[in-house]
Amino acid sequence: MIVNDLAAKRRRIEQLLDDEHAYPTGNLDHIAAKILEKRGAILDVAAGRATPFYLYDREYFRSALAEFVAAFGAHLPGHRPFYAVKSNPHPGVIEEAVRHGFGLYVSSGRELRQGLAIPGCPILFSGPAKLLEELHLAVLHADRVIVNIDSFRELERLGELAARLGRSIRAGVRVPVEHHSAWSKFGIPLAELPRFWRAAREHPLVELQGIQLHLSSHRDLAAYEGIIEQLGRFLERELTAEERASIAFVDVGGGYWPHRVEGYSPELHPLGKVIRAADAHYGQDTEFAQAYYLRESFPLEEYARALGGAIDLHLRPLLDCVYYTEPGRIVSTYAMHIVLTVMDKKSEDLVIVDGGVTMVGAPRYLHTYCPVINLSRPAMREIPVRIGGSLCDSEDFWGFRCYGERIEEGDVLIVPLQGAYTFCLAQDFVRPIPPVVELDHPGDERARGPG
Ligand SMILES: Cc1ncc(COP(=O)(O)O)c(C=O)c1O
Repeated sequence: MIVNDLAAKRRRIEQLLDDEHAYPTGNLDHIAAKILEKRGAILDVAAGRATPFYLYDREYFRSALAEFVAAFGAHLPGHRPFYAVKSNPHPGVIEEAVRHGFGLYVSSGRELRQGLAIPGCPILFSGPAKLLEELHLAVLHADRVIVNIDSFRELERLGELAARLGRSIRAGVRVPVEHHSAWSKFGIPLAELPRFWRAAREHPLVELQGIQLHLSSHRDLAAYEGIIEQLGRFLERELTAEERASIAFVDVGGGYWPHRVEGYSPELHPLGKVIRAADAHYGQDTEFAQAYYLRESFPLEEYARALGGAIDLHLRPLLDCVYYTEPGRIVSTYAMHIVLTVMDKKSEDLVIVDGGVTMVGAPRYLHTYCPVINLSRPAMREIPVRIGGSLCDSEDFWGFRCYGERIEEGDVLIVPLQGAYTFCLAQDFVRPIPPVVELDHPGDERARGPG
């Protein structure tokens, strides 16, 4: 028996099958319409060079940065954003974020060095297992680096290092907000916070002054309020007034998902997963009623309002501090598109393009839907066509539909809004990683990565 309580599991599965499942449906026409406004400029760039490439769209990225600042500025006044470098570490992207007044949130020595290369840019350094040389570098630049400490052991390391170097460093401590998931590997349990605060006194050169919570993403905005409330109640109960007064910042992290930019196939729907598992077991196939559902998320304004409201209610009465955010995907998604050319039309419903999905790290488009647009034969309707990539790999598909009149060999396709956790996860399996080309400065081609 695979579980002890099989009867209970059977009831749970039946409940899942019976439940109403109101998952969002609709289309992503707005993305295609907006990209088609830039069609001429993108085709000009593609005409002058070999595809595939990542297309850095500075204008889109700027609007995303501006939108973030406006929404959080309105609902979390005085907040300070730190761009999450890990989500897209392209130098041009980082420079633009800094130009918009963002600091940088870095999580490795490599990213820290990237940030330090930008004069005057404030940096938050967090993440597990920081190396001694990384902490060393942070202490040497303590005027603009804050370290979010991940454990009691790291506090000791940082304290010893600061004492050896005779320099003080500002620090926060990370507390996980979900204790039973993979996220619990980060930071120290909330219950340990008072002990941590007191342990930090043993290290006078570590100026412990902040708390980092990465809120991550939730299907329900009330979850954000619940987490902030939980923190507020805890701080009120368990820290002394003097300790609370030493809190200079609360860092609420990132995890805000862009709204209406992708969908997912019914196979990722809980019900679809059950049906697919049964199909696979009995060697059958199911045709689902929907081609895809839209990925659940909230307009940026709603994230900001929910968080700002919760902070006003549960933290501002207790703490006189500033609030940091660490947005990654909510801004970097908009920074890049992927440009491809059709190399081969094998049949009316199958084309092969010159780039593989290793450009985004993994074969994510088997189950994730992103619009693909034929710039050479534009139309605001999708035709069914399997778009295979250039790799000798059966999972290498970009999608199963394409905006366009039709699709032919030599057509230039674009997969828009692919800036987050795609470019930085690219692999050079079989083929080299393509370059990044900037839409407004196509002559300034750069290799992927921080160099
Ligand atoms: C601590 C922390 N802050 C910010 C981020 C950025 O998250 P996102 O790109 O979802 O905004 C991450 C991502 O994993 C993170 O771990």
